[in-house]
Amino acid sequence: MRLSRKSGANLFGLCPFHSEKTPSFSVSPDKQIYHCFGCGKGGGVISFIMEIENLSFPEAVAFLARRANMPLPEQENDRESKKRARIYALNRDAARFFYEQMNTPAGERARAYMAQRGIGRTTATNFGLGCAPDEWSALERAMRDKGYTDYELFDAGLVKKGKRGGYYDTFRNRLMFPVIDVQGRVIGFSGRILGEDGPKYLNSPETTVFNKGSNLFALNLAKKSKSGYILLTEGNIDVVSLHQAGFDSAVASLGTSLTPEQARLISRYTSEVILAYDNDGAGQKASQRAISILEKLDLKVRVLQMSGAKDPDEYIRLKGPEAFARLIEGSENQVEYRLAQIAKKYDLSVDAQKVDYLREAEELLARLPGAAEREVYCRRVAAETGVSPEVLIGEVKRRRTRLLRRTEAAERASPVRDSQPSGKTIRYDDPASAVAEEGLIRLLCLEPSLAEDPRLPDAAGFSSAALGHIYGAVRGRLAAGKSVSADVLSGELSGDELSLLVNILGRPEALSNSARALDDYINRIEERRRAAAGGQDLMQILEEKRKQLKEG
Ligand code: UTP
Ligand code: MN
Repeated sequence: MRLSRKSGANLFGLCPFHSEKTPSFSVSPDKQIYHCFGCGKGGGVISFIMEIENLSFPEAVAFLARRANMPLPEQENDRESKKRARIYALNRDAARFFYEQMNTPAGERARAYMAQRGIGRTTATNFGLGCAPDEWSALERAMRDKGYTDYELFDAGLVKKGKRGGYYDTFRNRLMFPVIDVQGRVIGFSGRILGEDGPKYLNSPETTVFNKGSNLFALNLAKKSKSGYILLTEGNIDVVSLHQAGFDSAVASLGTSLTPEQARLISRYTSEVILAYDNDGAGQKASQRAISILEKLDLKVRVLQMSGAKDPDEYIRLKGPEAFARLIEGSENQVEYRLAQIAKKYDLSVDAQKVDYLREAEELLARLPGAAEREVYCRRVAAETGVSPEVLIGEVKRRRTRLLRRTEAAERASPVRDSQPSGKTIRYDDPASAVAEEGLIRLLCLEPSLAEDPRLPDAAGFSSAALGHIYGAVRGRLAAGKSVSADVLSGELSGDELSLLVNILGRPEALSNSARALDDYINRIEERRRAAAGGQDLMQILEEKRKQLKEG
């Protein structure tokens, strides 16, 4: 990026976060902060790295520390993290070994297979595809020559223990897909069979650095996509083909059905997910499940309907990338998709079945969060079934009221349990308020400009002393015009408070509408305070109101 001095102390250049022709991105070398007058993004070194590399706060700190060859303070003497670092290095060397095999006689079969599947050289290099030779200890030998022990190879899941002692390579005669996390570290492998032995795909076992359920294949590439959505597929080959065809936001869950952790990870990079699962019964079931997981995180979901092909890879091969692009354009949003799925079960020309369809559709519609959305789809279903829209809208409204009552009751029965901090020394008296207080702290650290809002609550009434102390420290620094980050705050906080802060900052925050998030946090905190001031629980008050209404 080129910066030049326009006037005063600031440097200006083209903004890396949005496309523009005249520079509106300013950097203040003295204050070590940046601000774009075009898109409004701004912050310090850490937030810049978070934004540009798409990392969470602790990841960005680690990124910068690595860059400066600085050990992270809390990790300096941590044996576990040293061991992990060693596994990352080993995995990277193993990936390089597999990759190099492609250009040797041992890679013959893999090369032929890639040619057959239409995977080009550039794509293969982009993904770091490689080949595990058809031998029992090719990798083991190569890695031992590099100084790794069998024990380390075993820990990384790259070798297995033989029956008569000794070790043998986990991956043999397979096309190798390295799995790389969003920080660019090789965390494991997925190997597709080239010969006849064993399952079609073999994945690294769970290791200290590899957890299938919390990673996605190719998210390291997809996170940089400008497409505005993530394409979620089932297969590694689908992902490779899609990227090759220009759909650079394709990812796959690693042989598991989508987990909530994976969904959360996705939600850090996009607000819209397009499901491109296999076109079979299993794929449809998996879609349904994925939709409900993604929806919980407020992600917009659309579902591709591929006809005439079993998966995206085949679709592109048979019909070409343009056809796939049209498929994306015309893809159904998840409400349409689910209504269609429900409708499929019934014969709508039979009255009794139509009633059943309506009942199921109403249940779905009642759960839609937006009032406008509910009305739009009510009208559509009404037209489709020939009932009056007013009747349907009324019915959905009744169901929704009932539903909300039930959720409230459930929340009352099980107070927010897992919102307690993980350390043992800090306890929250009022977890519901604490969640909002944590959010407020996070928001202020990420968007220091919000610190000027006159409605900000004071630290005294925070639900735990630790949160109050952290909040006070953050506001203190911001009021003095200083920057905030875990590293600069470490002097003012206790060890437990610091790790709590790092934890708070590590959770995702939707910065796209920070003003609304701020309102929301403040309202929730005030609500809890009002309730506490009256010596009553908010839920109690609600319950009493309801009783009064019933009696009155
Ligand atoms: P698929 O069988 O659809 O594989 O499994 P694919 O990637 O489309 O491969 P091709 O086109 O048949 O060559 C989907 C995903 O399920 C996991 C893998 O992650 C695979 O990419 N899987 C499949 C396994 O983990 N083990 C298996 O034996 C099969
Ligand atoms: Mn497939």
